[in-house]
Amino acid sequence: ADYGLDGYADYMRKEIAEQPESVRRALLGRLDERFATARLGGLRLDARELRSIRRVKFLGCGSAYYAGQIGANLVEELARLPADAEPASEFRYRNPVVDGDTLYVAVSQSGETADTLAAVQELARKGGRVIGMVNAVGSAIARECGSGVFLHAGPEVSVASTKAVTNMSTCFAMLALLLGRVRDLSVADGRRVVEALDALPARIQEVVADEEHIAEAARRFADARHMFFVGRVRGWPVAREGAQKLKEISYVHAEAYQAGELKHGPIALIDRSMPSVVIVPDDELLAKNIGTIEQIKARGGPVLAVTNAELPRGLADVELRVPRTEPELDPILFGIPLQLLAYHLAKQLGRDIDKPRNLAKSVTVE
Ligand code: AGP
Repeated sequence: ADYGLDGYADYMRKEIAEQPESVRRALLGRLDERFATARLGGLRLDARELRSIRRVKFLGCGSAYYAGQIGANLVEELARLPADAEPASEFRYRNPVVDGDTLYVAVSQSGETADTLAAVQELARKGGRVIGMVNAVGSAIARECGSGVFLHAGPEVSVASTKAVTNMSTCFAMLALLLGRVRDLSVADGRRVVEALDALPARIQEVVADEEHIAEAARRFADARHMFFVGRVRGWPVAREGAQKLKEISYVHAEAYQAGELKHGPIALIDRSMPSVVIVPDDELLAKNIGTIEQIKARGGPVLAVTNAELPRGLADVELRVPRTEPELDPILFGIPLQLLAYHLAKQLGRDIDKPRNLAKSVTVE
């Protein structure tokens, strides 16, 4: 699906820039301001069926799995339902317990990923309730699921997924909102999320417009051979996806870690040549994340903070500013500067962005 570069150097760069528009498409006709909820007709679940869901499990591979972790957090926060994400490539090999009260969500850009399709088939055999959250209409996973939510990201050519991943999280936020509003999420909280979703394309545009600043940060870290990506709770899947993006296109070794786990071992790796990208949303964990930065700095590690908070002056070596949204949606927005960081780091190293070695756009074999 070659839809033209339109003057961009590569598809990845083009697809990053398209995100305000692709997120707008994902939201189109799906936000219900009046009832402060989301309309997701493709789910084919009425209010009674929605209320009968006791758990949600997201299944996907690679970036779709990391996005699923963002989805699980959103469902727990907004709907107060237990939720988690699991790599679809593991699911069928461990004889999973499939229970009828769980809503399984198969997540895929291409809709052709063999491992995710196999997980859906295993669920079908065991009578699990599964919906698809897929970008490619008419794809194998979309057909096998039979109902779900299309991502509407448009064609994605770059092997490194950007706009599809952002649309996944955006659609998960709507699913979480809907599940919340048939339970005890208040109108006021629902409206807060609806309004923040509605404003999301404009906020993403602000990040994309900050590209030169992000490119400059990438130049500062272009010599690094290893990098940590660190976050806690909402920031953790963001860190995982940021590390994944960097690995894929730059071949720099990047490792994502939960901030609180650093001190249990990997902090031994920190020195002047090991920078850390720290995800610092202005939420109830701000003080904890500032503490993490101090621990890294105390061991001589350079820190790049991605933040929408006012950090103490000089705390981080480099700051990438992210616009404010509602805290639950921070993970969607914080992902964007990390895409651009990976892109510009890989550019600095002269990598072939759209054709990274050893990778295919969709993995249709096991
Ligand atoms: C993303 O940058 C990767 N190329 C990869 O992890 C991808 O997300 C994964 O293979 C799943 O693909 P899918 O969304 O098409 O199922």
